[in-house]
Amino acid sequence: MDIKQKIPVAVLGATGMVGQRFVQLLADHPWFELAVVAASERRAGQRYGETCQWVLDGEMPDKAAELMVQQTQPGLNARIVFSALPADWAREVEPEFARAGYVVCSNASAFRQAPDVPLLIPEINHDHLHLLENQRKQRGWEGLIVTSPNCTTTGIALPMKPLHDLFGIEKIFAVTMQAVSGAGYPGISFLDIEDNVIPYINGEEEKIEQETLLLLGTITDGHREPAAIDISAQANRVSVREGHTVCLSVGFKHKPSLDEVVKALTEFKGSPGFPNLHSSPQQILVVRDEKNRPQPKRDRGVNDGMSVVVGRIRECPLLDFRMVTVSHNTLRGAASGSILNAELLVEKGYLQTF
Ligand SMILES: NC(=O)c1ccc[n+]([C@@H]2O[C@H](COP(=O)([O-])OP(=O)(O)OC[C@H]3O[C@@H](n4cnc5c(N)ncnc54)[C@H](OP(=O)(O)O)[C@@H]3O)[C@@H](O)[C@H]2O)c1
Repeated sequence: MDIKQKIPVAVLGATGMVGQRFVQLLADHPWFELAVVAASERRAGQRYGETCQWVLDGEMPDKAAELMVQQTQPGLNARIVFSALPADWAREVEPEFARAGYVVCSNASAFRQAPDVPLLIPEINHDHLHLLENQRKQRGWEGLIVTSPNCTTTGIALPMKPLHDLFGIEKIFAVTMQAVSGAGYPGISFLDIEDNVIPYINGEEEKIEQETLLLLGTITDGHREPAAIDISAQANRVSVREGHTVCLSVGFKHKPSLDEVVKALTEFKGSPGFPNLHSSPQQILVVRDEKNRPQPKRDRGVNDGMSVVVGRIRECPLLDFRMVTVSHNTLRGAASGSILNAELLVEKGYLQTF
């Protein structure tokens, strides 16, 4: 796409774990210009470079460091607002931005279940953008809200999409091993997670189960129908910095061969009509055949952290096949995924500034 003028964007929650990823990724995005950083009231009016405790590898981008942190309220000089806010705060302020005409791309869970708010992974359900017609009619907003799924859901829904389309999934059993960065910054205490596994993440299993079904579902007469799949998730926090690992067992309506499973994953290019977007990787699902891969430390960064890496694909004595996936939780599962949603909105004509 030929963008004549970059679109000014704001990051809400810019000092947090996901917010910093946005700031890093937007520093040289060809379509978007980071114009505003916002955070909690206590930081407003301070230079981002002074108030933000930068926790990512590499330096904070120079231009971002010079920005003054703004209050999280409409009136910001931006057209797109990337929200990396805690859910309770997102629930209050995201509608205010949408009402004021901003295009809100949210990472928070606040509106993921709302029937008129698209929950998107562009490669698998870009057609869910049709829900925006209902959103506009019902809410009367000048702007809009779209959401990205929970970071762990992404590493399940993406590889399940081609398998569901081709062979009809009936059952999914998922056990997760989730990185510490998924809990935000400063997150979990070292004394709690070091040398440990915590078999509970508040609300996570419900999110994984519900959001996977929404993402794999269909739009009928302008309404979202969740996929008819039985799904059970068990979520664990493990002592890994970034990258969520999921062990999956999958049962099918029409059991494929092992070769057919590998082919379906490897050849997945996105659902029909998926446009070529700047941040989408050439290879959406990367299949590895070594016995000991994927591993979060070695595989989370594949294709700029945008591919889901799948391995250990084999028959399962309980359901039909087993496999292991690794996805980058703050990139594909958060900031990069949300930027991809914004690219989709631009591509589909929801912003008319070019
Ligand atoms: N971490 C992940 O891997 C991940 C993945 C997908 C989705 N998410 C979701 O993304 C959102 C952000 O997660 P995170 O991990 O980045 O959290 P985080 O590290 O705790 O960051 C939270 C951010 O929100 C700001 N904030 C908090 N309360 C605020 C308020 N009342 N007004 C304005 N700003 C406020 C904080 O600003 P101050 O620094 O000024 O307090 C900070 O910038 C959450 O909804 C989370 O569920 C996270």
